[in-house]
Parts: sequence; structure tokens; C-alpha cells
Amino acid sequence: MQKPKYKRIVLKLSGEALAGQSTFGIDHDVLYSIARQVVVVVKQGVEVAIVVGGGNIWRGVAGSAKGMDRATADYMGMLATIINALALQDALEQEGMGTRVLSAIEMKEVCEPYIRRRAIRHLEKGRVTIFAAGTGNPYFSTDTAAALRSAEIEAEVILMAKRVDGVYDSDPEKNPNAQRYERLDYIDVLNQGLGVMDSTAASLCMDNKIPIIVFDLTKNGNILKVVMGEDIGTYVGR
Ligand code: GTP
Repeated sequence: MQKPKYKRIVLKLSGEALAGQSTFGIDHDVLYSIARQVVVVVKQGVEVAIVVGGGNIWRGVAGSAKGMDRATADYMGMLATIINALALQDALEQEGMGTRVLSAIEMKEVCEPYIRRRAIRHLEKGRVTIFAAGTGNPYFSTDTAAALRSAEIEAEVILMAKRVDGVYDSDPEKNPNAQRYERLDYIDVLNQGLGVMDSTAASLCMDNKIPIIVFDLTKNGNILKVVMGEDIGTYVGR
């Protein structure tokens, strides 16, 4: 039996990924499909941390674009990620997986506060550890939270779940000749503004040498494929 390529991963799920075909809310089937895929990966002996976004409930950037105070809009987004984290926790536990939700904004009646050493302990015990509330700071995206947490827990890779199977040189939905990159350097992502993650997050990954794999979450079994080392997306690194 082939061994997984990675021992500890961070899976970055956007809020939109949980919404499935709709643009708002949580799609039950999608939620359970993700949970089941994560369980399979954990059973391979991989430690899985998840950073989840909140865009299916509230987008801070969109709120601030309409005139709302940016920090307030971002805090609302962080609260949205807690809702998603609890939904994921519930689905994973229904599938028999041990989990812990750790929030960057203290909400101790609902979940544990984020404590780095505790997060590592949960992972070592085989619990899926879900990081909620981003970095706990406005002006920082959940992509940046994924990069930060990956550095802190020494994850080997960030799996960026998308609805497309990687990074393209132009929009594949508009250009039928768009080419998918198999490999990219961080600096290309930054210089060309490729839609992998925002520049703060990409810089943090570059400075800490954390590879990113962009892959298509909508195909069942893809998380496992990436973890086993199959080249199904775009690898961003050195
Ligand atoms: P180990 O001692 O390493 O096995 O971890 P543990 O998480 O089981 O230890 P603990 O006894 O601290 O936690 C027991 C339960 O309480 C777990 O479900 C935790 O998620 C939960 N828990 C711990 N701290 C908090 C907290 O501050 N708030 C909330 N809401 N739950 C907590």
C-alpha cells in the first residue's frame, strides 16, 4: 500500500466551497462529501487541519465596498467562519471522526480558543482540527490564516480547495485554450496576480517555504489523490 506523501496538512476551504451550486449557505450534500473525504485521508494516518472561510454567509470586503466600516465587516466575516467550522465539525463527527474547533476569537461556550501547542496536540491525537475566525484580525483573509496556521503547526503543505483543477494562464471558463500550470513559483503568483491566494498569504507562504497545491474539490476523492502525491492540480513552491 502506497504511503501518503504528507504527514500534516492544512486544507483551506472557502466558504463558497460549502455552498455547492448555490452561492449562499451550506449545502448538506457538499458538507458531507467533504467530511467523508477528510475521514478517508485521516485514516491514511495524515494529520488534517482545516481553515475555513465564511464567504457563503458574509463577505467582509463586499460589506466594506458598500460603505460599511472595514474592520466591522471583517469581524462579521470571522463570525461567519465559526458557523462554517461548527457545521464541518458536526458533519465530521457524524462520520465518526474526532474533531476540535479552535477559534482565533475567544468564544469559549462554543469552541476552544486557539492555542498553538494545543492544536498540535489535537493533531497528534488524530483529531481533525478546525481553525475558525481567521487570524482574529480584520484586514487579514482566511487565506492568510491558512498560511499563518500552517507555519505555526509546521504543516508540510496547504491544499487550496477550488472549483477548478488548478491555476490557468487565463480564465478557462472564457478561454477554451487556457493552459493549466502544473508548477508555479510563489513570485509568479505574486507578480502576475494569479488567483491562488491574496498577496499577504502568498508572501507568508513564500517566506516560510510552505508549498501550496491548488486542486478541484468538487471531484470526489481528490483530497486523497493530492495527499497521495498525484499531480492533479497546480503546485506552487520553489
Ligand atoms: P486531551 O486532553 O489532549 O485529550 O484533549 P481534550 O480536548 O479532550 O481535553 P479537554 O479535557 O481539555 O477537553 C474536553 C472537551 O472540552 C473537548 O471536547 C474540548 O473541545 C472541550 N473544550 C476544552 N476547552 C474548551 C473551551 O475553552 N471551550 C469549549 N467550548 N470547549 C472546550
